[in-house]
Amino acid sequence: MVNIKSEKEVELMKHAGHINYLTHKLLEKSIRPGMTTEELNRIAHDFIISQGCTPSFLNYEGYPASICVSVNEEVVHGIPGKRKLKNGDIVSIDIGVIYKGYHSDSAATYPVGTVNEKKKYLMEHTRNALYEGIKQVKEGAKIGDISNAIETYAHKHHLGVVEELVGHGVGNNLHEDPDVPNYGKAHTGLTLKSGMTIAIEPMLNLGTKHIYMLDDNWTIITQDNKPSAHYEHTVLVTKDGYEILTGE
Ligand code: MF3
Ligand code: CO
Repeated sequence: MVNIKSEKEVELMKHAGHINYLTHKLLEKSIRPGMTTEELNRIAHDFIISQGCTPSFLNYEGYPASICVSVNEEVVHGIPGKRKLKNGDIVSIDIGVIYKGYHSDSAATYPVGTVNEKKKYLMEHTRNALYEGIKQVKEGAKIGDISNAIETYAHKHHLGVVEELVGHGVGNNLHEDPDVPNYGKAHTGLTLKSGMTIAIEPMLNLGTKHIYMLDDNWTIITQDNKPSAHYEHTVLVTKDGYEILTGE
């Protein structure tokens, strides 16, 4: 079932989205070579709590940390730990925030120090792919329009599109209907209505689209060990377009 949010609910989601955005900004400026991924988790956790919110990933289906931190060939769901970030790494950070029962979900990939041109290309075009998807959003458009815009942009730039993980509705729960795949046919799927809130989240790879899961049962890795990037926003559908709830 797809939920339509009331104005009051949208206000709560906007607040959850704003705190998510501020957490991203804080981590972005904290990232430096030599720090561990656990330190990023700690900074995010403490900030979210200090704002009267809750990190939604902590204990979600047993997930053991407050954010996901995925380095280089890690696609998503990297568990923060003792791994030290190195100059030239890229790090995908995924954050979920709950305010008064309402969720926001947002991810971005950041450079650690100076990164090579290929990684810059991957980050730039994965971010662009997210916005190509977002631009499709308005009442009357279809989920397939978003999916197709992302896939088309990714393929034009020779990037692998991860298929096993998809965007999703978001609201009282982190994951709600509908699924929002990063590949598919335009003019197909569910019709968007104003008041729907969805998380759009392309995961694109420099090499193969194929992935596997590590023995920790969380971390997703590219099969060829080439880098991957991930950008995600929580977006409100409006009559004539959209509002990004996890942006500036
Ligand atoms: N943020 C992920 C998503 O975009 C979900 C994280 S799962 C968790 O759907 F277990 F790490 F919380
Ligand atoms: Co998500």
